[in-house]
Amino acid sequence: MKGKVVLAYSGGLDTSVCIPLLKENYDFEKVITVIVDVGQAQDEIVKAQEKAELIGDKNYTIDAKTEFVQDYLFPLIKANGNYEGYVLGTAIARPLIAKKVLGVAIHEGAVALAHGCTGKGNDQLRFEAVFRSSDMEVLAPMRDMNLTREWEIEYAREHGIPVTVTREKPWSIDENIWSRSIEGGQLEDPDFIPPEEIFGWTRSPEKGPVAEIIEIGFESGVPMSLNGTRMDGLPLIIELNRIAGIHGVGRTDMIEDRVLGIKARENYEHPAATVLLTAHRDLERLVLTRAELSFKSKVDEKWSELVYMGLLDEPLFNDLNTFIDATQVRVEGTVKLRLYKGSVIVVARSSPFALYSEDLVSFDGSSINQKDAEGVAKYHGFQGRVYQKIIKK
Ligand code: ARG
Repeated sequence: MKGKVVLAYSGGLDTSVCIPLLKENYDFEKVITVIVDVGQAQDEIVKAQEKAELIGDKNYTIDAKTEFVQDYLFPLIKANGNYEGYVLGTAIARPLIAKKVLGVAIHEGAVALAHGCTGKGNDQLRFEAVFRSSDMEVLAPMRDMNLTREWEIEYAREHGIPVTVTREKPWSIDENIWSRSIEGGQLEDPDFIPPEEIFGWTRSPEKGPVAEIIEIGFESGVPMSLNGTRMDGLPLIIELNRIAGIHGVGRTDMIEDRVLGIKARENYEHPAATVLLTAHRDLERLVLTRAELSFKSKVDEKWSELVYMGLLDEPLFNDLNTFIDATQVRVEGTVKLRLYKGSVIVVARSSPFALYSEDLVSFDGSSINQKDAEGVAKYHGFQGRVYQKIIKK
């Protein structure tokens, strides 16, 4: 018999099935479960704890919500985090969850680490990028055994594990304060229109109430206030999820390229993320130069790709953050947005660092002598005109 194994635990079917499997098939003496609270529904955590107590040997629940916001979501906002249109909710949480699980394993003197990811997705890579920084054995029973959902349900029943997935509700859900992901069942057919019941955070856009204008205040690229009230990141995001969710803001139905190259159909809900990313991008456009904006968009894209792949220990990730932070000093001000039936539109913005000058751009302004532009206009497109003359000869 081997010693202790520490399992990243969610309370879902896959990770629950892992508990008896790690004893029966992998010969571990004790299975220690770790639930990391990154803002998933509180009753899901309670249910997971009850299951862990029922079938596991010892459980740790770690509240990582504030750390998640400060050290992961704030940098994501500054980087306009976005992979192919996905706000990176699951992706950005995995390294933090893995780190907490590893911490418990070291504390417990465990000999192995385990996760419940399959061999098809991205999460196996994100967990293991962190797990393998230790010398402990890394186990992925789901990937190893190539299990089907049917087999798992049967195995769970035999082992007294309460099962909540059914043939009618086969959804695989991953949730944290930044986003909620829904996969599985008929959703795997990209030609299937998702039923309203898969959504938990957003009201159907057509059922949204009358338009509402909200105001977000930013300092150093991160949100500091909502409707004029200063708030910490965590309560601000929670409140914004509620407000924008009522308006049906922040639903995504997309085809996503996984790291392995597999295309997946994904449904997401992320009301606060949509509002904050829309507002942040707009404020950047007010205060950063054209050169900064164009260069930063490439940095943001690379940043998002590294997060999607779970490569937060890559030195480039740190380098990119250093650049991004330098640009964010001036990203300060307020943005007003209109929420209405699934849409969010910026309607006003202001900043003490605005490069925008009403006098310069206005038809009535006086500080620009328009005659000065004539010399620029004479040379604009110069090479193109030379070229056109030559080929016409
Ligand atoms: N496709 C997303 C990602 O790789 C989300 C995966 C979430 N998992 C789930 N079981 N719903 O980040």
